[in-house]
Amino acid sequence: MKKFAAMGLAGILAAASTMAVAAKPEDAIDYRQGVFSAIKWHFGTMGAMVKGKMEYDAEDFSRRAEIVAQLSKLPIEGFLPGTYEGETSALPAIEDDREKFDGGMKALVERTAALAVAAQTGDLEQIKPAFGEVGKTCKGCHDNFKE
Ligand code: HEC
Repeated sequence: MKKFAAMGLAGILAAASTMAVAAKPEDAIDYRQGVFSAIKWHFGTMGAMVKGKMEYDAEDFSRRAEIVAQLSKLPIEGFLPGTYEGETSALPAIEDDREKFDGGMKALVERTAALAVAAQTGDLEQIKPAFGEVGKTCKGCHDNFKE
């Protein structure tokens, strides 16, 4: 992780999208779906707190925001050529419009990092807009690239 931190965001993304991995297509699909499921696990609870459906717990919210920020760096590596058919809802449009897709992944990394920073304030008025920005990023990408 230290090495990744030194590389910065551009480095992480560049490395992830050109990284050679020894994996079968179905493993890559399982991997990215698993990471997104873990993101949803935490983001869902955070959403309940933001919407007042659950009591806001600053420490727990911040811990989850940190986890989501870290997890957001991971899915990109699972979007490999030849992994857009079978048990997946990822659209082949990802291959055709790779730049836009990678842009969405970069936005996710940046906005979840901003949310983790906002979470440290413990101030819901600062957290809400940052949470909203992340939510828009999820939806924007799903609208274009997920079945
Ligand atoms: C840049 C694109 C992109 C962004 C941003 C993104 N997703 Fe996704 N997400 C996908 C794609 C593509 C799939 C389909 C993966 C597959 O089925 O192989 C997916 C799948 C999922 C799944 C289903 C996993 C499964 O088990 O099938 C969940 C849940 C999910 N995303 C949640 C989120 C949440 C929550 C966010 C925001 C915090 C988010 N995603 C942001 C592209 C994105």
